[in-house]
Amino acid sequence: MKEEPFNYDRRYPSVGDLKRKARRRIPKFAFDYLEGGCNEEVNLRRNEADLESIELMPQYLKRYAGMTMRTELFGHVYDAPFGIAPIGLQGLMWPNAPEILAGAALKHNIPYILSTVSTGSIERIAEVSRGRAWFQLYHPTEDRLRDSILDRLQAVECPVLVVLVDVPSFGLRYREIRSGLSMPPKMTFRNVVQAAVRPAWCMETLRAGIPEFATLKPYMERHMDMAQLGRFMNMTFTGRVDVDKIAAIRERWKGKLVIKGVVSEADAERAIDLGVDGIIVSNHGGRQVDAGESSVKSLLRLSSTYGKRLPIMVDGGIRSGPDIARVLACGARFAFMGRPFMYGVAALGRRGGDHTIGMLKAQFRQVMEQLCCENVADLAGTRIPAL
Ligand SMILES: Cc1cc2nc3c(=O)[nH]c(=O)nc-3n(C[C@H](O)[C@H](O)[C@H](O)COP(=O)(O)O)c2cc1C
Repeated sequence: MKEEPFNYDRRYPSVGDLKRKARRRIPKFAFDYLEGGCNEEVNLRRNEADLESIELMPQYLKRYAGMTMRTELFGHVYDAPFGIAPIGLQGLMWPNAPEILAGAALKHNIPYILSTVSTGSIERIAEVSRGRAWFQLYHPTEDRLRDSILDRLQAVECPVLVVLVDVPSFGLRYREIRSGLSMPPKMTFRNVVQAAVRPAWCMETLRAGIPEFATLKPYMERHMDMAQLGRFMNMTFTGRVDVDKIAAIRERWKGKLVIKGVVSEADAERAIDLGVDGIIVSNHGGRQVDAGESSVKSLLRLSSTYGKRLPIMVDGGIRSGPDIARVLACGARFAFMGRPFMYGVAALGRRGGDHTIGMLKAQFRQVMEQLCCENVADLAGTRIPAL
């Protein structure tokens, strides 16, 4: 027998374990923000359910020379074919979450994507990630602000700009509405009570200070109250992105350009025509279109037609090494996860990024060895067609 592959905290061998622990450690309003989907959460459930239905076939008698999960993407060889998706307000869920995750991603040589509305600044995260972090842009209403953000990204030599296109309208998330987590955020009596029963979160938050939109701070007036902050966010970002806006970015941005939120053939065609370098097939973790299809279904449609023309990445409902293998078997070049890494940090604080990445690597290694795959490209041949 070979040595046991799992050398991380044995109390948390799965994303489910981290999620249970996270729920007990952070205030309910923060957990609801992280967990929720839109409307009745049908699309949220579909992401995981459709992924679970993908089956892979092992081979046991084939000669096997060992495996590597290293994957080349945009000129960089990553240690594993998965990365950390952009999440807004990360520091609300756990203080310094962007720094913790960007640092762990650097250590494990996987990509971390910083959100425009996260709580770490472009410059700070570039420092922590030694220039490796990617950046996700919420499209600003004014070109002046867009250009200022692009200049800052260029100055820190950000390698990949990810433009989000699937938030033309705010998702209607009932959990957030109920818990008062809106723009502007409300500190209701109930929320204060929910925080008070999570002492570890309170201590860390007191130590780190109130989280803020660090990347956007230079564009805000000082000492904005919550209502002013809400008005600023609504006026500053349109959310709606079209071909003209992408063309203007393509013209200006010399690094790699990725569009996140492509789920239709028509948008994939537009992205290719615009000269983007890759797409992330995503339904925003089931937070925008409840009547939409699961990410893996969109992936299967798009990868068969466009997989040879540009790298297709995917996120939504991926929770384990077997899930990473499933999406790679369905034609994705790379898998991203959002909530799992936040569960990890909320559960284990500073150790959470390292633990979650290491755990997923161990799970993915096991499934590749079991399926007799020597490299990630071999996974393409393991998918069992639906009966
Ligand atoms: C709490 C939360 C906040 C998010 N914030 C952003 C964001 O600021 N920018 C963005 O491009 N996507 C955002 N997303 C979507 C994620 O990048 C990703 O598409 C999604 O989480 C993938 O699904 P998963 O959580 O099932 O892995 C957010 C998702 C969640 C759950």
